[in-house]
Amino acid sequence: MVMANPKRTVLFTVVLICSCFRPTDGDGKRRISLPEIIISEERGVDNAIFRRRSVRQFVKDPLTIEQISTLFWAAGGATVDGVTGATRAYPSAGGLYPLHFYVVVSGVEGLDNDVYKYDWKNHSVMSKNLGDRMGAVKEVTYSNSFLKQDVSAVFVITADYSITTERYSRRGEKRYVPMEAGASSQNLALKAEALGLGCYVIGAFEDWALSSALDLDKEETPLLILPVGNAR
Ligand SMILES: Cc1cc2nc3c(=O)[nH]c(=O)nc-3n(C[C@H](O)[C@H](O)[C@H](O)COP(=O)(O)O)c2cc1C
Repeated sequence: MVMANPKRTVLFTVVLICSCFRPTDGDGKRRISLPEIIISEERGVDNAIFRRRSVRQFVKDPLTIEQISTLFWAAGGATVDGVTGATRAYPSAGGLYPLHFYVVVSGVEGLDNDVYKYDWKNHSVMSKNLGDRMGAVKEVTYSNSFLKQDVSAVFVITADYSITTERYSRRGEKRYVPMEAGASSQNLALKAEALGLGCYVIGAFEDWALSSALDLDKEETPLLILPVGNAR
């Protein structure tokens, strides 16, 4: 791992090492540790910002678990701010972090076709044991063009609004949570660009149908869908 600040390196490494020894949860669900994140010394994001465009045409080349790992991390993984210790990749009002992250997998090397929930604390994913839900996800997104294509991975960002509204009420609901989803999804989109992958954001879908397809907890509201793949 390459990082400029040695203190940060130590703390970040501790966060990741802790992750390796977490026990597997019950219910037959599988916990899969994700590959380690390599922090590039290069700090510039200009290239990714300049080149990012919504990509809606994909080829069916499989993605890898390393790519999924990096994209989860960019969206909502652990970072180090050098003052308070471990924080997260997206800014959050009051440091409350109301967002949850999923990936719907249909052709990723190293992951069975299933729906996985990201656990940022130990940089792992938990399978939901739903099998391949890509068809169901496509059905809920109206007429988006990726419906007709073979897509290997679709990320979904959800929010538990109550985490933020308990402290910030209506302002939290109307402003903070959607702002945070925007920041997080942009992180993911820029990382996809930096990895040479295509990605775009979908906001048009049936909330209840997506919740049902992913078997989401009732506290969670799905906010954004992000198909990711090799651009055609
Ligand atoms: C909140 C949000 C919701 C979006 N929903 C959709 C969508 O449902 N379908 C779609 O094709 N694109 C969707 N987009 C992508 C926009 O159409 C796209 O970002 C815009 O045309 C600008 O193009 P660019 O991303 O290439 O810069 C959405 C973008 C955002 C930020």
